[in-house]
Amino acid sequence: MKQYDLRSDTITKPTLEMRKVMASAEVGDDVYREDPTTTRLESLAAELTGKPKALFVSSGCMGNLISLYLQAGRSNEVLTASNSHIIQHEIGSISAIAGVLPITIDVPRGVLSAADLAGKVKSGSYDMATTTLIEVENTIGGYCYPLENLEGIKDFAQTHQLKVHMDGARLFNAQVATGIPVKTYAKYADTITFCLSKGLGAPVGSMLCGDEAFINKALTLRKMLGGGMRQTGILAAAGLFALTHHVDRLKDDHAHATAIADALAKTGWAVVDREGVQTNIIFFQVPGLSAQTVVHRLASHGILANNEGEIVRLVTNLDLNDEDTNEVCALLTSLDIEA
Ligand SMILES: Cc1ncc(COP(=O)(O)O)c(C=O)c1O
Repeated sequence: MKQYDLRSDTITKPTLEMRKVMASAEVGDDVYREDPTTTRLESLAAELTGKPKALFVSSGCMGNLISLYLQAGRSNEVLTASNSHIIQHEIGSISAIAGVLPITIDVPRGVLSAADLAGKVKSGSYDMATTTLIEVENTIGGYCYPLENLEGIKDFAQTHQLKVHMDGARLFNAQVATGIPVKTYAKYADTITFCLSKGLGAPVGSMLCGDEAFINKALTLRKMLGGGMRQTGILAAAGLFALTHHVDRLKDDHAHATAIADALAKTGWAVVDREGVQTNIIFFQVPGLSAQTVVHRLASHGILANNEGEIVRLVTNLDLNDEDTNEVCALLTSLDIEA
């Protein structure tokens, strides 16, 4: 049976062209800062985000952790949406390692506004943690942060002398979906991470971007966390390839997600968050069936999905082409999920 892997956009395998540039990458010891390909990737990431400097890190989790560690500071508080990745999927590292106390806010789709932050900032009391940072995720669950929210959050942060970190794991998806350049989104955050290993299709790595003083400290902390890697040029070459060849094609992933969401909506058995499908992620539920049951039943028909609590998630990706998408839509349409 043919399988369609829609569990995540992290499951993609490097293309042949990508493997070729990896194999021929010029390398050096990056702990000595002598890897020319990594240096090129870091320069490109800085240029794309409009930040003075960038650092290659092993993962999105590491980038977020370094930013929160350095920007929030131990015993201080970060304000973030309760469904954000740093809360749900980073094993409490911001508390366990960085000593940061998260204050979570329940907001529709995880999109914060300045009004949601009002009254939540603490400072000046000897027996209270001080609020130092706001964290936003863009896209969040595939949904693009409206610029006016980011503007409001930045003004709020300035008024209260807070920093802003953006987990932009899928920021290029937002750029392609909205036409708003990554650089414009990045203006509203002091530091930003984006991932090469998700929709962009590289096997490993994320970029952490910020000002020079921040990136210099991040370099030390990366080493302390065990993230100093040697001939990273092999990985950086994949990242460079992804940033030059795989950004525009994200529109295909988005079109595939829209087609699948529409097919699901027509089945009669799925309740789809259709308006939430702005990029490559689809959330839906089947009334009367647990999300896990739905995941199992889809798998028995060759469609691999994931569940986040009681919601089923499908993510389109580089390894799913037009033909696969049509087949997935036809499968979903013909499926009796209750059986
Ligand atoms: C929004 C978001 N942030 C951060 C991460 C962490 O990235 P990594 O798996 O590279 O640590 C992920 C991973 O899926 C993510 O979806």
